[in-house]
Amino acid sequence: MSGKQNHERDTKNVGAQPHFGQTAPEIQPYGTVSHLLPLGLEEPVRLEMTEQLNQLLADTMTLRDLYKKSHWQVAGPTFYQLHLLFDKHYNEQVELVDAIAERVQLLGGVSIAMAPDIAETTRIARPPRGREEVPVQLSRLLDAHQVIILETRKLARRAIELGDDGSNDFLVSEVLRTNELQVWFLSEHLVKVPLVEARETSSAAGAA
Ligand SMILES: [Fe+2]
Repeated sequence: MSGKQNHERDTKNVGAQPHFGQTAPEIQPYGTVSHLLPLGLEEPVRLEMTEQLNQLLADTMTLRDLYKKSHWQVAGPTFYQLHLLFDKHYNEQVELVDAIAERVQLLGGVSIAMAPDIAETTRIARPPRGREEVPVQLSRLLDAHQVIILETRKLARRAIELGDDGSNDFLVSEVLRTNELQVWFLSEHLVKVPLVEARETSSAAGAA
Protein backbone atom coordinates (compact mmCIF):
# COMPACT_ATOMS: atom_id res chain seq x y z
CA MET A 1 0.00 0.00 0.00
CA SER A 2 1.38 3.44 -0.92
CA GLY A 3 1.90 6.26 1.57
CA LYS A 4 -0.96 8.18 0.00
CA GLN A 5 -3.35 5.23 0.36
CA ASN A 6 -2.23 4.80 3.95
CA HIS A 7 -2.97 8.46 4.65
CA GLU A 8 -6.43 8.21 3.04
CA ARG A 9 -7.25 5.13 5.05
CA ASP A 10 -6.12 6.84 8.30
CA THR A 11 -8.15 10.02 7.76
CA LYS A 12 -11.27 8.04 6.73
CA ASN A 13 -11.23 5.43 9.46
CA VAL A 14 -9.70 7.05 12.54
CA GLY A 15 -12.08 9.65 14.00
CA ALA A 16 -9.52 10.99 16.45
CA GLN A 17 -7.05 11.89 13.70
CA PRO A 18 -6.34 15.66 13.87
CA HIS A 19 -6.73 17.42 10.53
CA PHE A 20 -3.49 19.32 9.95
CA GLY A 21 -2.49 22.04 7.49
CA GLN A 22 -5.92 23.49 6.90
CA THR A 23 -6.40 26.88 5.24
CA ALA A 24 -9.40 29.08 4.45
CA PRO A 25 -10.12 32.74 3.65
CA GLU A 26 -10.27 35.25 6.52
CA ILE A 27 -13.65 35.52 8.22
CA GLN A 28 -13.25 39.29 8.74
CA PRO A 29 -10.77 41.61 7.00
CA TYR A 30 -8.63 44.01 9.04
CA GLY A 31 -10.06 47.54 9.15
CA THR A 32 -13.70 46.47 9.17
CA VAL A 33 -16.31 46.22 11.94
CA SER A 34 -19.34 43.96 12.32
CA HIS A 35 -22.33 45.80 10.89
CA LEU A 36 -24.75 45.32 13.74
CA LEU A 37 -23.96 44.88 17.41
CA PRO A 38 -26.36 45.47 20.32
CA LEU A 39 -24.12 48.17 21.83
CA GLY A 40 -26.05 51.27 20.79
CA LEU A 41 -23.02 52.50 18.81
CA GLU A 42 -23.39 53.01 15.06
CA GLU A 43 -21.01 51.40 12.58
CA PRO A 44 -19.15 54.66 11.65
CA VAL A 45 -18.46 55.36 15.34
CA ARG A 46 -17.09 51.87 15.88
CA LEU A 47 -15.01 52.13 12.69
CA GLU A 48 -13.35 55.33 13.83
CA MET A 49 -12.78 54.14 17.39
CA THR A 50 -11.32 50.77 16.37
CA GLU A 51 -8.97 52.43 13.88
CA GLN A 52 -7.66 54.82 16.54
CA LEU A 53 -7.54 52.10 19.20
CA ASN A 54 -5.44 49.98 16.83
CA GLN A 55 -2.97 52.86 16.50
CA LEU A 56 -2.83 53.05 20.30
CA LEU A 57 -2.42 49.26 20.43
CA ALA A 58 0.54 49.31 18.01
CA ASP A 59 2.22 52.05 20.04
CA THR A 60 1.54 50.28 23.34
CA MET A 61 2.96 47.00 22.00
CA THR A 62 6.07 48.90 20.91
CA LEU A 63 6.48 50.50 24.35
CA ARG A 64 5.93 47.10 25.96
CA ASP A 65 8.77 45.64 23.89
CA LEU A 66 10.98 48.67 24.55
CA TYR A 67 10.59 47.91 28.28
CA LYS A 68 11.75 44.30 27.83
CA LYS A 69 14.71 45.43 25.71
CA SER A 70 15.62 47.91 28.47
CA HIS A 71 15.14 45.23 31.17
CA TRP A 72 17.59 42.90 29.42
CA GLN A 73 20.18 45.41 28.24
CA VAL A 74 20.42 47.85 31.18
CA ALA A 75 23.93 48.41 32.61
CA GLY A 76 25.58 50.33 35.44
CA PRO A 77 25.26 51.02 39.19
CA THR A 78 21.44 51.18 38.99
CA PHE A 79 21.24 47.87 37.11
CA TYR A 80 19.27 45.96 39.73
CA GLN A 81 16.57 48.52 40.52
CA LEU A 82 16.05 49.44 36.87
CA HIS A 83 16.09 45.79 35.80
CA LEU A 84 13.17 45.22 38.21
CA LEU A 85 11.35 48.48 37.48
CA PHE A 86 11.48 47.98 33.70
CA ASP A 87 9.97 44.51 34.10
CA LYS A 88 7.20 45.83 36.39
CA HIS A 89 6.27 48.45 33.79
CA TYR A 90 6.51 45.81 31.05
CA ASN A 91 3.96 43.65 32.85
CA GLU A 92 1.61 46.60 33.30
CA GLN A 93 1.91 47.40 29.58
CA VAL A 94 1.13 43.73 28.78
CA GLU A 95 -2.16 44.17 30.66
CA LEU A 96 -2.93 47.34 28.68
CA VAL A 97 -2.13 45.63 25.36
CA ASP A 98 -4.64 42.90 26.12
CA ALA A 99 -7.31 45.33 27.27
CA ILE A 100 -6.91 47.61 24.21
CA ALA A 101 -6.97 44.64 21.80
CA GLU A 102 -10.10 43.24 23.44
CA ARG A 103 -11.76 46.68 23.33
CA VAL A 104 -11.18 46.67 19.53
CA GLN A 105 -12.75 43.22 19.27
CA LEU A 106 -15.77 44.02 21.44
CA LEU A 107 -16.47 47.08 19.27
CA GLY A 108 -16.71 44.66 16.35
CA GLY A 109 -13.25 45.36 14.89
CA VAL A 110 -10.11 43.35 14.26
CA SER A 111 -7.14 44.01 16.55
CA ILE A 112 -3.69 44.45 15.04
CA ALA A 113 -1.50 41.65 16.38
CA MET A 114 1.70 40.63 14.63
CA ALA A 115 5.16 42.22 14.89
CA PRO A 116 5.61 43.22 11.22
CA ASP A 117 2.21 44.96 11.23
CA ILE A 118 3.04 46.70 14.51
CA ALA A 119 6.38 47.90 13.09
CA GLU A 120 4.63 49.40 10.05
CA THR A 121 2.01 51.15 12.17
CA THR A 122 3.69 52.51 15.30
CA ARG A 123 4.64 56.18 15.66
CA ILE A 124 7.38 55.38 18.19
CA ALA A 125 10.93 55.70 16.85
CA ARG A 126 12.79 52.43 16.30
CA PRO A 127 15.74 52.00 18.69
CA PRO A 128 19.05 50.41 17.63
CA ARG A 129 19.52 46.69 18.28
CA GLY A 130 22.53 47.34 20.52
CA ARG A 131 22.76 48.46 24.15
CA GLU A 132 22.46 52.09 25.18
CA GLU A 133 23.33 54.04 28.34
CA VAL A 134 20.71 54.35 31.08
CA PRO A 135 19.87 58.04 30.43
CA VAL A 136 19.29 57.21 26.76
CA GLN A 137 17.12 54.20 27.64
CA LEU A 138 15.07 56.39 29.99
CA SER A 139 14.73 59.17 27.41
CA ARG A 140 13.52 56.72 24.77
CA LEU A 141 10.94 55.26 27.14
CA LEU A 142 9.74 58.74 28.16
CA ASP A 143 9.41 59.82 24.52
CA ALA A 144 7.33 56.70 23.81
CA HIS A 145 5.13 57.41 26.83
CA GLN A 146 4.59 60.95 25.59
CA VAL A 147 3.40 59.73 22.17
CA ILE A 148 0.92 57.42 23.90
CA ILE A 149 -0.27 59.95 26.48
CA LEU A 150 -0.98 62.60 23.85
CA GLU A 151 -2.90 60.23 21.59
CA THR A 152 -4.79 58.75 24.55
CA ARG A 153 -6.03 62.16 25.76
CA LYS A 154 -7.08 63.08 22.21
CA LEU A 155 -8.86 59.78 21.67
CA ALA A 156 -10.59 59.96 25.07
CA ARG A 157 -12.06 63.36 24.14
CA ARG A 158 -13.13 62.03 20.72
CA ALA A 159 -14.81 59.04 22.39
CA ILE A 160 -16.97 61.45 24.42
CA GLU A 161 -17.94 63.34 21.24
CA LEU A 162 -18.95 60.06 19.58
CA GLY A 163 -20.90 58.81 22.61
CA ASP A 164 -18.50 55.93 23.33
CA ASP A 165 -18.39 56.40 27.11
CA GLY A 166 -16.93 52.92 27.70
CA SER A 167 -13.85 53.72 25.60
CA ASN A 168 -13.50 57.12 27.28
CA ASP A 169 -13.54 55.61 30.77
CA PHE A 170 -11.10 52.86 29.79
CA LEU A 171 -8.71 55.30 28.07
CA VAL A 172 -8.62 57.71 31.02
CA SER A 173 -8.81 55.31 33.95
CA GLU A 174 -6.51 52.60 32.68
CA VAL A 175 -4.36 53.71 29.74
CA LEU A 176 -3.74 57.34 30.68
CA ARG A 177 -3.27 56.89 34.42
CA THR A 178 -0.93 53.89 34.02
CA ASN A 179 1.24 55.77 31.55
CA GLU A 180 1.31 58.94 33.67
CA LEU A 181 2.41 56.97 36.73
CA GLN A 182 5.14 55.17 34.81
CA VAL A 183 6.42 58.54 33.50
CA TRP A 184 6.83 59.74 37.08
CA PHE A 185 8.82 56.65 38.09
CA LEU A 186 11.15 57.03 35.09
CA SER A 187 11.56 60.79 35.31
CA GLU A 188 12.78 60.72 38.92
CA HIS A 189 15.78 58.70 37.71
CA LEU A 190 16.87 61.64 35.58
CA VAL A 191 17.17 64.08 38.49
CA LYS A 192 20.84 64.79 39.14
CA VAL A 193 21.27 64.48 42.91
CA PRO A 194 24.46 63.51 44.79
CA LEU A 195 24.64 59.85 45.72
CA VAL A 196 27.04 60.06 48.67
CA GLU A 197 27.89 63.62 49.65
CA ALA A 198 25.36 66.47 49.75
CA ARG A 199 26.23 69.43 47.54
CA GLU A 200 26.26 72.06 50.35
CA THR A 201 28.45 69.94 52.58
CA SER A 202 31.04 69.53 49.83
CA SER A 203 31.13 73.32 49.03
CA ALA A 204 31.45 74.17 52.74
CA ALA A 205 34.31 71.69 53.01
CA GLY A 206 35.93 73.28 49.94
CA ALA A 207 35.71 76.81 51.47
CA ALA A 208 37.23 75.81 54.81
FE1 LIG B 1 13.65 38.91 33.12
